[in-house]
Amino acid sequence: MCGIVGYIGDKQAQDVLINGLKKLEYRGYDSAGLAVYNGSVKVNKAKGRIDQLETLLSESPLEGTMGIGHTRWATHGQPSDENSHPHLDQSGKFAVVHNGIIENYLEIKEELMAKGYQFSSETDSEVISHLLADLYNGNLVATVQEAVKKIKGAYALAIISEYDPGKIVTVRFDSPLVIGVGEGENFVGSDIPAILEHTRNVYILENNEMAVLTRDSVEIMTVDGSIVAKDVFRVEWDMVQAEKGGYEHFLIKEIHEQPRAFRDTLASRISEDGRRVVLKELEQGRDLLKEADKIFIVACGTSYHAGIVAKYAMEQLARVPVEVDVASEFRYRNPIITDRTLVIVISQSGETADTLAALRESKKQGARVLAITNVVGSSVAREADDVIYTWAGPEVSVASTKAYTSQLVALYLTALYTAQVRETHSEDEIADLISGLQQLPEQAEAILEQKGQIKAYAEKISSHPSLFFIGRGIDYAVCMEGSLKLKEISYIHSEAYPAGELKHGTLALIEEGVPVVAIATQPEIYEKTISNIVEVKTRGAHVLGVGTEGDRELEKSVDETVFVPKTHPLLAPALSVIPLQLLAYYASVARGNDVDKPRNLAKSVTVE
Ligand code: G6P
Repeated sequence: MCGIVGYIGDKQAQDVLINGLKKLEYRGYDSAGLAVYNGSVKVNKAKGRIDQLETLLSESPLEGTMGIGHTRWATHGQPSDENSHPHLDQSGKFAVVHNGIIENYLEIKEELMAKGYQFSSETDSEVISHLLADLYNGNLVATVQEAVKKIKGAYALAIISEYDPGKIVTVRFDSPLVIGVGEGENFVGSDIPAILEHTRNVYILENNEMAVLTRDSVEIMTVDGSIVAKDVFRVEWDMVQAEKGGYEHFLIKEIHEQPRAFRDTLASRISEDGRRVVLKELEQGRDLLKEADKIFIVACGTSYHAGIVAKYAMEQLARVPVEVDVASEFRYRNPIITDRTLVIVISQSGETADTLAALRESKKQGARVLAITNVVGSSVAREADDVIYTWAGPEVSVASTKAYTSQLVALYLTALYTAQVRETHSEDEIADLISGLQQLPEQAEAILEQKGQIKAYAEKISSHPSLFFIGRGIDYAVCMEGSLKLKEISYIHSEAYPAGELKHGTLALIEEGVPVVAIATQPEIYEKTISNIVEVKTRGAHVLGVGTEGDRELEKSVDETVFVPKTHPLLAPALSVIPLQLLAYYASVARGNDVDKPRNLAKSVTVE
């Protein structure tokens, strides 16, 4: 998704902005640009990676100590030099960077064109710079306030103008924006990593708030001009955590961080005697957990797959019906929500527009909303009634791994807590699952030790055009995530199928040599899964079985095996997904792909 950086101080802005944009590369982008003020506003921007912009800047540097920068992920208009940000107005007096979408831009554009303004891009964002020029009344801040009244949609804006050269004016509505406070310098970022190198003291802007930055001050106000007294948020996590360490890619580093992420997400949420889940976060919503007659779980992508695992855990442990929905569908299908409905939204970033829209729709209809997210202060976290954070640490690679498994842990804890509240299981049964959760970190480490074998298998299948993942019950939920991971980063087509459903059509696609990954960790449906494996095997499939340590029967039924340590069947997904993550990673490397930044995808999708 797009990224914003802004700087005002005494350093050369160009260097600060480029470094900031690089820290946001993980968000995904297709072009980059800077505007720097030095007597006049100068812009340099280009389609492509930041290093292409750097080449341009080495030929014609932008000198000056204040400026704004942007990485764009195309929505309106193809990736191109013209469509890149910053956008200038016709006179070149105003420069604007924008994240989000201006929904009524066509209307505004027509009005401005009728007045003679000429546009040089196809973007929705360019209307803002012309609108500012059109509305300019001698006061930059007041002009921005007027402009904001006219635009509809989502926006994080950073604006500089030749008319008022000592200021950066920023506004937020439905698109994140943070202000970094320095000494004799101040910063803007669409995300904390953009500015963390310079300061740990930040203001997180809320909707309809704006911040006016000078070298020595930050003034926060509403878009109506009322001053807002805001507390500085001290960022405790370190940038080192978000760097690659010794690994070749963020993805493999993050896969290896899962044992730690498990430990952190469990920490302080289990009673000292290990027999009860303690979730202070859910105390206020406790009554509804007891009374709820329906739970919706709503999310996108990988988070949606965590939701499917949670359905099994929640229904089995807390005996409450759960429906899992893709967020972009949920809000448009008129779901039946009553005062006994709990909605759980899951979002790693906490900024996914579809998930946020579903959250708002649920609240509008009277549901209590619990958010599971990895980002403190994110929009989802702020707007939900209750929040459980997954302490996975910053996840940089676009494909989600440690955030997913941490979501599973948070969801297992939620299911167990709900079971406690609803008294659906004995304390011994709950203690047994808690003990299973506590063993996950070590067990995950044991799986990571098998990466050499998974790498060899990945290299073998990396030239195949298509692959199947099959499993039953909760194993099928893991298949869906394994298949998504493979598609996202290796670009190999794959399909996840409930193993028992294959014979109703898809079996036609199984022929000699087709790779099939079969997960068989669930004792209750084990024999049936084995029969389904035999069905594909006899039709020529080459099968990799993912099973529980010591499973000799599986070994005999497949071509290759990967074993995961024995755990409670409900917890198996947190382990069996790890070989699938490794498979996707090594297949992507074997194919020479850009592992951490897969084509066409973005880490955080803040448009619907
Ligand atoms: C994007 C990412 C996916 C992610 C999905 C939901 O599509 O590429 O990896 O699963 O958004 O993101 P969220 O931050 O809401 O979990």
